[in-house]
Amino acid sequence: MANQATTILVLLGPPGAGKGTQARMLEEQFGFVQLSTGDMLRAAVAAKTPAGLAGKQAMDSGNLVSDDIVLGILNHRMSQSDTTVGVMLDGFPRTAAQAKVLDDLLASNGRRLSRVINLMVDDAAMVDRVSGRFTCAGCGEGYHDRFKQPSVHGRCDKCSGESFKRRADDNAETVQQRLSEYHAETAPLIRHYDQMGILCKVDAMQPIEEVNQRLNLMIASL
Ligand code: AP5
Repeated sequence: MANQATTILVLLGPPGAGKGTQARMLEEQFGFVQLSTGDMLRAAVAAKTPAGLAGKQAMDSGNLVSDDIVLGILNHRMSQSDTTVGVMLDGFPRTAAQAKVLDDLLASNGRRLSRVINLMVDDAAMVDRVSGRFTCAGCGEGYHDRFKQPSVHGRCDKCSGESFKRRADDNAETVQQRLSEYHAETAPLIRHYDQMGILCKVDAMQPIEEVNQRLNLMIASL
């Protein structure tokens, strides 16, 4: 793991909380690198790597991928030089074991997490958010059927691409399982980081821009 990163943020939150949406905005605003274990795993599945093949079944059913696969993928990515400006971990850690590995790795480099941001969303909103999500097939910009449409119908605001896609695991049944996994495995981390004194809670039921303003203020004060 690289040890020069000045700012290391974790974005915690259930499926559909807005982790990816906010990470992409903060990437542009602060130059931090978004490290999404979900995106890395989807890329591994698409490339049919051993990690992707091993993780696919868990992802398709809404379960967590095993810690060893996730840690292998993340470690590889964290060792790349573009992570030195600052890093936003999106969707990692998700289990107590992953949190411990992260804490230990950072401590062994004389570093610690800058902040853990808990994006708080009502369970009822998540199915709506996730089932309405679509992304630009070209640049990955995220949209939503109701909450964030491209300014020009059918054309990506960012790259003008005209092809969009939806995730295979964004269906009601899988979302419920992802939500169960979140409550069982990931939500307990909120207390862990609160006890470390680095937790920042953000009301993510607010509109995207308002959540972003709140995050900007928090990061500017670091
Ligand atoms: P992952 O890709 O991380 O999925 P997730 O955690 O379920 O999160 P999402 O990507 O669904 O939601 P998000 O919070 O990023 O929301 P978004 O910004 O897109 O993981 C997928 C799978 O990979 C897992 O199920 C697991 O199998 C595996 N995996 C990944 N990491 C792992 C790990 N560490 N360990 C083990 N397994 C792992 O927003 C959603 C929608 O809502 C968008 O359309 C957006 O436009 C809209 N929206 C966002 N914010 C708002 C707002 N404030 N108001 C209204 N709409 C909003």
